[in-house]
Amino acid sequence: MKLTGKIALVTGASRGIGFAIAKILSENGALVVITAKNSDRIKQAEVKIPNSFAITCDIRKKNEVQNVVNQTIKKFGKLDILVNNAGIFPRIKQLHEIDEEEWNEVIDVNLTGQFRFTKEAIPYLQKTSGCIINISSDAGLKAYQGFNADAYSASKAALIVLTKCWALEYAKDKIRVNCICPGVVDTDMTKPFLKNQKDIDFMNNEHPLGRIGQPEEIGKAVLYFTSDDASWVTGAVLTVDGGESIK
Ligand SMILES: NC(=O)c1ccc[n+]([C@@H]2O[C@H](COP(=O)([O-])OP(=O)(O)OC[C@H]3O[C@@H](n4cnc5c(N)ncnc54)[C@H](OP(=O)(O)O)[C@@H]3O)[C@@H](O)[C@H]2O)c1
Repeated sequence: MKLTGKIALVTGASRGIGFAIAKILSENGALVVITAKNSDRIKQAEVKIPNSFAITCDIRKKNEVQNVVNQTIKKFGKLDILVNNAGIFPRIKQLHEIDEEEWNEVIDVNLTGQFRFTKEAIPYLQKTSGCIINISSDAGLKAYQGFNADAYSASKAALIVLTKCWALEYAKDKIRVNCICPGVVDTDMTKPFLKNQKDIDFMNNEHPLGRIGQPEEIGKAVLYFTSDDASWVTGAVLTVDGGESIK
């Protein structure tokens, strides 16, 4: 087991990619604190993931984020792994159609939320020489004709550069910080774009390997970054996207 004795915290773990990440970390020996906004959903996830501990938390609220980290330390005494995964995808509109509230909402969840969790976790990760994995997106790497959600792309691009800033800043503490950019993955977030066979065929063809991804395929990449297999890897940005970003 690669992660025996490790304490991990995964945000947005009630479903989709976060659920798959939490499950694979647990299957590899970690005790996993799982968080999400919806209480019922995160409690259902806790039942399905062995050695998991659910805490409801709206990532937009500083006191709730602090509560998650405090409870983690109170219950397990330390923190080794933080996975910043929680995120939302707004309705696709052109820039001039977005109002400021919509923009702020996406930035608050997808970017400031990751700042909040990382800020609270760092003092404990310094003690364990732990690691951080940020879940960004191909949308943080490039633009898409007719498929842009500007605040989303901005939040994901910012997370890529923050990965490098944090990796450099905290290398002295032996904290490793890495980032994953998924292509389109089959989750609730992408359901609106996969409503019928025509949409599904289109999305599959967007990826050179001929299909969209499964949440577990992102989970496996996270497992690599959290394990000793990646002991000399920090500041890395790994695309896990069926080749989508090389087009
Ligand atoms: N799916 C893709 O194709 C894809 C591609 C690239 C990157 N990503 C990124 O991967 C991550 C996971 O995406 P996904 O597809 O698994 O999405 P998802 O199925 O919609 O799940 C999103 C998760 O984030 C949580 N969340 C949303 N708003 C929150 C808030 N205010 N406070 C706390 N938790 C909140 C949700 O919790 P609740 O259940 O409580 O709502 C849920 O656990 C996101 O950062 C996303 O941007 C996804």
